[in-house]
Formats: sequence, C-alpha cells, structure tokens
Amino acid sequence: MTGAGVRVGPAPGALPLLGHALPLGRRPLDFLASLPAHGDLVRIKLGPVPFHVLCDPDLVHQVLVDDRTYDKGGAIFDLVRTVAGNGLATCPHRDHRRQRRLLQPAFHRDRLPAYARVMSLEISAMLRSWTDGRSLDVLATMNELTASLATRTLFAAELDDATFGELRLCMHDVMTGMMRRMLLPWTVLNRLPTTGNRRFVRARRRLRQYVAQLTTDYRRAGVDHGDLLSILLAVRDDDGQGLTEAEIHDQVFTFYLGGSETTAPLLSWSLYLLGRHPAVRERLHEEVDAVLAGRIAEHDDIPRLGLTRRVIMETLRLYPPGWLFTRVTTRATELAGHRLPAGSIVVYSPHIVHHRADLFPDPERFDPDRWGEDAGRLARGVFTPFGSGARKCIGEVFALTEATLALASIVARWQLDPLPGAHTRLLPRLSSTPRSLPMTVRKRHPGAAERSVPAHGRTGSKPYDEQGQPLEEERWQTW
Ligand code: HEM
Repeated sequence: MTGAGVRVGPAPGALPLLGHALPLGRRPLDFLASLPAHGDLVRIKLGPVPFHVLCDPDLVHQVLVDDRTYDKGGAIFDLVRTVAGNGLATCPHRDHRRQRRLLQPAFHRDRLPAYARVMSLEISAMLRSWTDGRSLDVLATMNELTASLATRTLFAAELDDATFGELRLCMHDVMTGMMRRMLLPWTVLNRLPTTGNRRFVRARRRLRQYVAQLTTDYRRAGVDHGDLLSILLAVRDDDGQGLTEAEIHDQVFTFYLGGSETTAPLLSWSLYLLGRHPAVRERLHEEVDAVLAGRIAEHDDIPRLGLTRRVIMETLRLYPPGWLFTRVTTRATELAGHRLPAGSIVVYSPHIVHHRADLFPDPERFDPDRWGEDAGRLARGVFTPFGSGARKCIGEVFALTEATLALASIVARWQLDPLPGAHTRLLPRLSSTPRSLPMTVRKRHPGAAERSVPAHGRTGSKPYDEQGQPLEEERWQTW
C-alpha cells in the first residue's frame, strides 16, 4: 500500500472497541512521536473511527496547502467552534478567503511597532510585581501576561478597572470550561447543572453581552480607537459589506484564544529550558546585557536579540504549543497513493515531525544553535509550529514579537531556577503546557536602578511614560 516510496500502514497495538484510545489518552505526545516508525501516513483508531496521521513533512505540506480538499473539521475544531463560532481559525474553506482578506490588515507588519509598545508596557508592569527570592508559578504568570495583552490589544479604548477585570475573569471561565469539555467530551456531562458548567455558560453569555455593548459604544462614538475591535468594525469587502455582529463576536474570541493560549506556554517552556541549561542561559545573559543593559526590550531591539530568537525557535520545535490539528476531506482523494473517501479525518501534529531524529539530530536535546543562518532552508513541512498554507497562523509575527520582548526583558532582569527536585510534566490540552511550573526568581542586578517602561496598574489603569507621567491618550491608543 505505498505510493512512490511512501510508506502507509496501521499503527500496531489497537485494542478491540478502544483502538488506540489508551496510549493516545495516557501519553499522547510519546504515542504520536512513535508513529513515524510505522510509516509516513499511519492509520490509528479511536474507538471505531480511523484517523490518518501525517508523519512525513512532504505529506504535511501537501495537506496544508490544499485547504479545499482538506478542510477544517474534526473533534477539536468542533469544540473550539462552540466558543469561537465561525471565526477565522475555525471557519470552513468556503468562508475563509473572505475572512482572511478582511482581517489581514490588522496583522500587517506596519502595525507591529505599536503593538510592541503595548507589549513592553505590560511586560514592565508584570516584572515590577516580582519579588526577589520568591517562588513564582511561571505558567500562571505567563497566562496572566498574555491574557492581559490580548485584552489590551483587542479593546484599547479606556476600560475601567472593574470592566477589564470582569472581562478577564469571563475569558478565564470560558477557557476553563473549554478545557474541561476537551477532557470530558461527552455532551451529557457538559449539560448537567454543575457549578463548572453553570459558570461556563454564564461567562460565555456575559462575554457576548460585553462584546455587543462595546461594539455598540464604538459604533456610537464613531472613533477609531486603533485596536482590533476598531479594525473589525471598519473592514469592508469588495461589495462594501462589513462583518456581521456574530462574525465580530467570533473573531474577538478567536483572537483572544489564539493570542493567549499559545504564547503563554511558549514563554513558560522557554524559561523552563533556560533554567535547565545554565550554559545557554549564561550566553543569553551576555546578549541581553549588551543590548538592553537592564531595560525592558522594545521593538527596535529585536534584530539584535539573535540568541533570544533562537531560544524561542528551539522551544517551538521541542514544545510546539499547538500539538494536534485535524482536517476532514471534502471529497474522495488520494494521499501517498492511498485512497481516502470523503469525510476521512487527517491528523497533523508539529510535534511528530519536530521530533524526528533524521530531520533534527538528537531531537530531544535543547540546542538553540540549530537555528543558524541556513535554518531558513529547511524543507517544507519540517518546521510547522504556526501551520502552513492558507490557514497558517495570522498572528505569527505578533506572537514572535511578544515572545522575544517578554523573554529578553525577563532574562535581562531576573534569573529563574526550577525549585530543587521539582519536575514538570507536559500536559497536552488545547495547547501543550507544562502541568505546573514553580520557579524561584532572583534579581540579576540587585543594586541596579530600574530602567524600564514604567509600570501601570495591572488592570485597566492608564500606563505611564518613562518619567512616570500618565501617557497621553493618543500615545497609548496607538492602534
Ligand atoms: C506562539 C504562538 C502561536 C502559535 C504556536 C500559533 C499556532 C497556530 C497554528 C499551528 C495555526 C494553524 C492551525 C491549523 O492549521 O489548523 C494557527 C492559526 C491561527 N492563529 Fe495562531 N499561533 C500563535 C499565536 C497566535 C496569535 C498571537 C494570534 C492572534 C492574535 C493567533 C491567531 C490565529 C488565527 C486567527 C489562526 C487561524 C488562521 C487562518 O485559518 O487563517 N495565533 N496558529
């Protein structure tokens, strides 16, 4: 059953009725990483349902660039759709081109410096709240940072403290509810009137109301606040049609989800890996000391933060936050010489290809220096933390900017070490996160004066400029 030297076959060990549900449920990433040994296109079963897993970069590329035949679909997308509706990440191919065209301007490179300004302010505020010698829950802290940032970039208009806080809380409750649904996907359990289910439903309703209210306020004011919501309200297609209320709501959720659930684990894993590899951390200290001299990183610093970038790339290789994606064939087709009827489920996981020893020698080793000059020449489909083809992540540059600014600024000021004896485990949920990540934070230059973008209130208060003065409205609401 092969096509042009491509190996196609079933994964061993399927149990009657369960198929491969046990290894996939217990140690999903190990199970996935074991599949290339059985072929380039490997068939696994979950209960009676067959899934076709792509283990070869060429096949990954073929599938991702043909989004008409391999459309979004499958259990994870269905779950995300319950919250993000028909937003850019979940909509089917027939709606995608229009949505992508409308939303692309929000992520144009020209907008990055202004987004970066908001990022530096939030990073500065976070670092000011750290205490020398304390133990920090790194994952929770990074979640808070990226969630604040997502909220600020979506709704830059002045939100009072209470609204900002409640928005964040609702988002948190919706995320928690989604995670639970992912782990317990049986609909009957999700309909029971448990505290968790009630909180999820209430938070989702409140968020809908908030977005509707903000939309009405923005429309009434007729002002471009320079944030994502303003762009969503302003965009028009060739027929002069804008996004409907429902579409605006779905995009807000999509950006929030995309913006917070991915960059937080990326930053957490980067800090974890640096804590475990003091020699790399030492070199990174030299880089950030030379470039930043203790201040918060800004957009113009990024080209000089080469090792920071390589650490981020290597973390994305080892722990790609999005670890499993599915596609459903819209028609009967052939892949690797193998016939797939319409409705077949195809799985791609960046984790599988990123851990292949023939593509990344000694794949479990953390080695940022893999990402030298010629790394850009990697074959297609080999490195896909942001996907590929028409459905490639729209927030890639935004995310890399955020991660670079945050990592460089943290490392410039603080040294993070794992607690003695503490080991973290991977928890593959919607994204692959550490199960928990307590680390001790130590100030690197205890005597040094703070040189930073000054702090502002964590929730909703105005930010301040370098002299500690409140920023002018127009400087803060930069996009
Ligand atoms: C480290 C951070 C991030 C990672 C690893 C990541 C990863 C991905 C991946 C793998 C996809 C493709 C999914 C598929 O093929 O089914 C994707 C799509 C997407 N991401 Fe990201 N993402 C990140 C950050 C962001 C940010 C910051 C945003 C928005 C602010 C965002 C918004 C989106 C959207 C809207 C899509 C759908 C694009 C489309 O279908 O046209 N992501 N992301």
